[in-house]
Amino acid sequence: MIRFPALVLAVLTCIQLQAQRIAPILIETKNASLVLNVAGNQRVLQSYFGRKIDKASIGKLSGGREAYLTAGMENQFEPAIRMVHNDGNPSLDLRYVSHSSKQNGTVITTDILMKDPVYPVEVTLHYTAWTNEDVFSCQTIIRHQEKKPVMLTQYASGMLHFNADQYWLTQFHGDWAREVNMVEEQLTHGIKSLESKLGTRTNFYQTQFYFLSLNRPSDENTGETIAGTLNWTGNFQFTFEIDQRNALRVRSGINPYASEYFLAPNETFTTPEMVFTWSSNGKGQASRNLHRWARNYAVLNGKEERMVLLNNWEATYTKFDENRLVELFDEGKKLGVDLFLLDDGWFGNNHPRNDDKTGLGDWEANKTKLPHGIGYLVNESEKRGLHFGIWLEPEMANPKSDLYKAHPDWILKLPNREEHYGRNQLVLDLTNPKVQDFVFRIVDDLLTQNPGLAYIKWDCNRSMTNAYSPYLKEKQSHLYIEYTRSLYKVLDRIRVKYPKLPIMLCAGGGGRTDYGAMKYFTEFWPSDNTDGLERVFIQWGYSYFFPANTISAHVTSMGKNQSLKYRTDVAMMGRLGYDIRTNTFTPQDIEFTSNAIKTYKRISPVIQQGDQYRLVSPYEEDRAVLMYVNETKTSSILFQYFTTPRRKNIFTNVRLQGLDPLKIYRIREINLYPGTKSGSPENDKQYTGEYLMSIGLNIAPRGFAVTSNVFEIEAE
Ligand code: DGJ
Repeated sequence: MIRFPALVLAVLTCIQLQAQRIAPILIETKNASLVLNVAGNQRVLQSYFGRKIDKASIGKLSGGREAYLTAGMENQFEPAIRMVHNDGNPSLDLRYVSHSSKQNGTVITTDILMKDPVYPVEVTLHYTAWTNEDVFSCQTIIRHQEKKPVMLTQYASGMLHFNADQYWLTQFHGDWAREVNMVEEQLTHGIKSLESKLGTRTNFYQTQFYFLSLNRPSDENTGETIAGTLNWTGNFQFTFEIDQRNALRVRSGINPYASEYFLAPNETFTTPEMVFTWSSNGKGQASRNLHRWARNYAVLNGKEERMVLLNNWEATYTKFDENRLVELFDEGKKLGVDLFLLDDGWFGNNHPRNDDKTGLGDWEANKTKLPHGIGYLVNESEKRGLHFGIWLEPEMANPKSDLYKAHPDWILKLPNREEHYGRNQLVLDLTNPKVQDFVFRIVDDLLTQNPGLAYIKWDCNRSMTNAYSPYLKEKQSHLYIEYTRSLYKVLDRIRVKYPKLPIMLCAGGGGRTDYGAMKYFTEFWPSDNTDGLERVFIQWGYSYFFPANTISAHVTSMGKNQSLKYRTDVAMMGRLGYDIRTNTFTPQDIEFTSNAIKTYKRISPVIQQGDQYRLVSPYEEDRAVLMYVNETKTSSILFQYFTTPRRKNIFTNVRLQGLDPLKIYRIREINLYPGTKSGSPENDKQYTGEYLMSIGLNIAPRGFAVTSNVFEIEAE
């Protein structure tokens, strides 16, 4: 028998495949098309991405750039994937094999299988199109049947290619208590990278979202823009590379920093999904697309209303006992909140959690502060008609804890190096299945012993440094990836048993804000900075990517120069809550707050489920104005926040958006402080939607204090 060397066989297979012309692979939503073509050499090319095009135009498309660029072959730019084979060959050649699509309602998934003609490696590009929401995702599934593990040094979720004259990138950066500062700049030739190497608390410095605007900066309503993110609660990387011909490649994925991955034969490496939406109507439309997608698909209980809660953190910090908490329940009842949330400081006996130096890891109620345990608190709050929730930080330990003493091998720390603390604590080695069981049991035991427990706040107060996993041993380069996978394993177990329980995601403020996590969580804590004025900017920043029902916003005593009304109006643009000593409130403050909570519950369906329009940016004017409109365009809520009172300010009319031009709307200023009346010339006026959207409202702020207004705009 004549034996063909592998290479010859491979070439023959290629020639056979070349003979078949594969029709364009179309991935499309209501308004956008992504078209992939298979080239003569069987490489898969991105031929088009943008405004939806018809079949005739699609048929005329040819060429393009490789959809998932590999390293080691002809490509000289940043690759999507780089693999080193068993024989040391550092190249990958991916050729089209087949593709298939599945439809589930309005969601269409497409799998494109590619194989290396020489090495037994296969890569599937898995696309999802949420057609109604105009949102796409791409993830990659990598497998091989070589004899021993192959090494992956780059494993992006996907790539997008663009051809424009200019590219404008909007990013959001920050730090503790000053999250999501927006910056827009023109990309220049070379590589710009937005990334995190923090492991846990990943978004501490860089939020994992971007807008990419083509040809010119886009504004709220005009301009072609792409909003992108990665569903991954760990190190991420977005690179934007402009080549010598001014073409842009955007690569999104897990940050491969210190993370060479040794993929065993027949093991499957599935990347997280990169998610993106396309808009020809600027950032506002892109945000609304993501908000709808988030509520419909990406966030836990996305369509359900959130509870108004009273949290005790800023009211007591760790200094409380059971009597003080019961007093707070009474205060919460007086205000009319739905739930009391007990924060940090309730646990630890040998190492009582009286500050942030001790006790983390010892999850039993402190007997001095809470002699009757958590069950008593659940009962007492329920007696007052309140649900009860509790704070946990399950992934961490203080060295001063029983946990640390009992299980020194459960801690991420480098051998032969000093421990390095963040907020006096260390990260647990979640890659260890025993630690995963421990973390699951913290939640499960609490919920089993206290079936009335109705809410959890899941905190994570440090990032990884000097990290080494005793469990992973020689596979240290898998640590960052395995940590996040392990977190998801624990959260999956929790969600199998407690599918609906509301849980707030927190990471010392907004250190973890990504859609990889949000499928397990109902809301997130955006910042420990709860000053009303600062929160206008912070919540504005998050509003680009997250719907209002996910953004926890609490009225606190920070921002003392702002009125209680201002701080309340700011918190109402998200999921309203309180974190304040209400025993210092005047009777008018109590009256105002309990009315505000009633008002919020009445209007929150519009805020939490409606379409959001950012009308005046606080980055451009000394005020912020935004509105939410319900699906039927019969009800709308408008917020205005004055940020910097200056004599120079001259404010013009604000044109509303999203209304029905033919409907007649009545404007009413609501949420007024007791004893005050609306000073707005627009209060109680009626206008058509057309008038409101073309001429607009005269709601110019007056005076020299930071003031705010809430208007209800109802169709008659
Ligand atoms: C950081 C969070 O952001 C705060 O809200 C609070 O829960 C503290 N941790 C408690 O330690």
